[in-house]
Amino acid sequence: MKKLKIKVLNGPNLNLTGVREPSVYGSETLADINRRIAEHAAERGIECDFFQSNSEGALIDAVHSVLLDGYDGAVINAGAYTHYSYALRDAIASVPTPVVEVHMSNVHAREPFRRNSVISEVCRGTVLGFGKNSYILALESFLL
Ligand code: DQA
Repeated sequence: MKKLKIKVLNGPNLNLTGVREPSVYGSETLADINRRIAEHAAERGIECDFFQSNSEGALIDAVHSVLLDGYDGAVINAGAYTHYSYALRDAIASVPTPVVEVHMSNVHAREPFRRNSVISEVCRGTVLGFGKNSYILALESFLL
């Protein structure tokens, strides 16, 4: 059977995971988390590629590449762009490939501005509140 090819995208400030607000996001770095995701993906027969950017345009290009480079799906933690980037929302809506929204923290238990996601309605689903395991659960959704 052909291996599923999934792109894992991280947006602004997630490069500082491990250092940034460890009480919210934990003390593991993004590289540690990506290693764990890659191990899990390998065990489940999924091929994973990783991308992080602090720039909206670079993330939009990366969403386009999910279609143009023939991925079967994507997992995206769009960071704060989640809450206001209509450009990122339109990029996700432009690709027919399923995209799963992820947040490490429970955004509903935090500041009110985090409760709204402008990308949720164009994503296949959302996983939030499980720390780094939110990414693993999102990956698993492609196997259902
Ligand atoms: C986040 C939640 C967002 O509100 C925040 O801006 C982030 C990280 C999360 O993973 O919990 O940068 O997406």
